[in-house]
Amino acid sequence: MRKSLSILFIIVIAIVVLATLSGLYVKVALPKIPLDKDLKVEVTPARVARGQYLARSVAGCMHCHSAKSENLFANPVKEDSLGSGGEVFSRDKGFPGMIYSPNITPYHLGNWTDGEIYRAITEGESKDGRALFPIMNYPAYGRMDQEDVYSIIAYIRTLPSIATNVPVTSLDFPMNFIINTIPAKAAPSQRPDSGNTVEYGHYLVNMASCIECHSKVDKGQIIPGTEFGGGRQLGILNGKPIYSTNITPDRQTGIGAWSKDVFIAAFTIFRDSALKAKTVAPGEFSPPMPWLVYKGMKDSDLAAIYAYLQTLKPINNTVVNP
Ligand code: HEC
Ligand code: HEC
Repeated sequence: MRKSLSILFIIVIAIVVLATLSGLYVKVALPKIPLDKDLKVEVTPARVARGQYLARSVAGCMHCHSAKSENLFANPVKEDSLGSGGEVFSRDKGFPGMIYSPNITPYHLGNWTDGEIYRAITEGESKDGRALFPIMNYPAYGRMDQEDVYSIIAYIRTLPSIATNVPVTSLDFPMNFIINTIPAKAAPSQRPDSGNTVEYGHYLVNMASCIECHSKVDKGQIIPGTEFGGGRQLGILNGKPIYSTNITPDRQTGIGAWSKDVFIAAFTIFRDSALKAKTVAPGEFSPPMPWLVYKGMKDSDLAAIYAYLQTLKPINNTVVNP
């Protein structure tokens, strides 16, 4: 009896020690993404132009890293705040802590190396080794062609410096441990030729994170089999949930019956400047989808996205919005 008790005691101690050690390891030793110290991104006009297009109209960097007019339709970015950060993803919106989008103008990134910026955007590790919360979809950015990421870096280097000091994110337990296991080495792809419409559309859809919003999720993970089928709650209007819609080619419940022109028009209608000034009173609808980001996409790029979406497996899922 006494012997088995002491064995049990030893086992319990061993488990506690192991758990503490692995907790310490995760907290102290991770993330451990190697830094490319030699990376030097030359800032050329071509890169700045490409980077501006991707950061503003495809990847949505400037949408999350700027102040927005919350009282205007579809939350346009305040142009004089470009890159100054400050958006809060807070506990009361369901996030596991207080997550702040940092300032990405030279005021904050001026003393970062290109390798440090590359690692933050594509692998999720900040300059000081802190693991970033994947609201910013760095796993997807890690799949981008490196040249496109270099273009984005070149562009954000040219932003006017804005002196705002954004608080550092603080995450709740257990996310403050789990977070350190999320950053991962980037797995860059090669940008498909834009003439290869379906492949190029797929490449843009990855960068624009369409799948993250247009699938059902459980604890931040996409539920397999629901990809692009819609039904993720992303907003609330007068107490009623607003869901993402089904963008698979299902003819009844998705966009299978949409022509290419109808699809493109759903985006380009947001180029109308009257919409830009439209105010939204409390209780009025303002779309959670970042239409004002994608409205800047070239028609040919929207057409490529349409072509890719039409190759997906149709999912029959009716989404009803208020
Ligand atoms: C959906 C919102 C969102 C989008 C889109 C987004 N970011 Fe972020 N970004 C964030 C948040 C939030 C953080 C901070 C996360 C944290 O503190 O854990 C962050 C962190 C960063 C950092 C690290 C800064 C630091 O001090 O650690 C850089 C650099 C950055 N983003 C640049 C970009 C670029 C470039 C893009 C486009 C390719 C982009 N972001 C797209 C929300 C976003
Ligand atoms: C931040 C979340 C989010 C992202 C990212 C997002 N969507 Fe959406 N999308 C929504 C929501 C929510 C709706 C429905 C309400 C609205 O318009 O905001 C919607 C609506 C749509 C619609 C209208 C469908 C209909 O039946 O009227 C289309 C088309 C669409 N999205 C395509 C896309 C594509 C393509 C991408 C990527 C380029 C994308 N979305 C990225 C959240 C998102």
